[in-house]
Amino acid sequence: MKKRVVSGNRPTGKLHIGHYHGALKNWIELQDKYNCFFFVADWHALTTKYDETKNLRKDVEEMVIDWIAAGLNPSKCTIYRQSDVPEVAELNLYFSMITPISWLERCPTYKEMINEINYKDISTHGFLGYPILQVADIVLYHGELVPVGEDQLPHLELGREIVRRFNHFYGQYFSEPQAILSQAKRVPGINGRKMSKSYGNAINLSDSPEEILKKVQMMITDPARIKRTDLGHPDVCLVHGLHKIYSDDVDKITEGCKAGEIGCVECKKLLAERINESLADFRKRRAELEGNSDKVWDILREGAKKVKPIAQETLNEVRKRVRID
Ligand code: TRP
Ligand code: SF4
Repeated sequence: MKKRVVSGNRPTGKLHIGHYHGALKNWIELQDKYNCFFFVADWHALTTKYDETKNLRKDVEEMVIDWIAAGLNPSKCTIYRQSDVPEVAELNLYFSMITPISWLERCPTYKEMINEINYKDISTHGFLGYPILQVADIVLYHGELVPVGEDQLPHLELGREIVRRFNHFYGQYFSEPQAILSQAKRVPGINGRKMSKSYGNAINLSDSPEEILKKVQMMITDPARIKRTDLGHPDVCLVHGLHKIYSDDVDKITEGCKAGEIGCVECKKLLAERINESLADFRKRRAELEGNSDKVWDILREGAKKVKPIAQETLNEVRKRVRID
């Protein structure tokens, strides 16, 4: 029996290459080894975007198109939308009854976001309870392994504590899910900050070759290189950071830069070509899905239909244990 993997992402619309190297590539590898459940966390999106839901469905759709175009295969893994299995909301409710507020308030991601986001009010019940819904997402399907980035570890640990508390009150039922840390590569954005849609510094998987070239041309290189013959310092150059990901012959580029033998213009052109080559299959698959949103929603519906019986069975057992049966 293959172990069950559960993971989700909030619908962010079109994905960028940071998403790909950070998580998606890993998911695509996992689908061959495990029984994988991958879902769009649209309810989680509401924790911060409760007031901007206009594009929510479109964002779900675009993200799923990118997932599939990048290589997630609905015949190998199960892809669904969180809100299509509302059982998770009921499990979230039982878990929220037993979760002390102090546990949630000391979650580092919570503290960070509360301090950082000042343009809107996220001191809501829903946002505080984010990790509760997250553990419900996982154990509703008896997920054993959870591929997440390092930033999500505190959520998972908190989730494990909630599971232990549930088992303590209602008898051993849920197993504690375990993180699988992906060897995620941190991809710098084109201005050097972490790549993010909200920083406007992202290279999207769905960008055209011309857009990619233009974005690469905007990237900051080693400021000490003015003439082509100036000796370069690739470790401070953003272009080099991406060559490390996209170019097998990065050592040659490193040496050429240090020796003042390749120019930045040429080096950038090469990088853009490499990124574009890597996206060839993606573009073909994306083009097929783009005009066919019905197919995307069918895949999500099918996925939800497949996982729903598991969710129902879990909830039957939970209700029995809580004596709400
Ligand atoms: N919090 C995750 C993120 O922001 C998304 C998520 C929601 C998730 N529920 C999950 C991830 C369950 C793993 C398992 O990326
Ligand atoms: Fe960066 Fe390439 Fe220029 Fe060196 S040659 S500074 S690696 S862009």
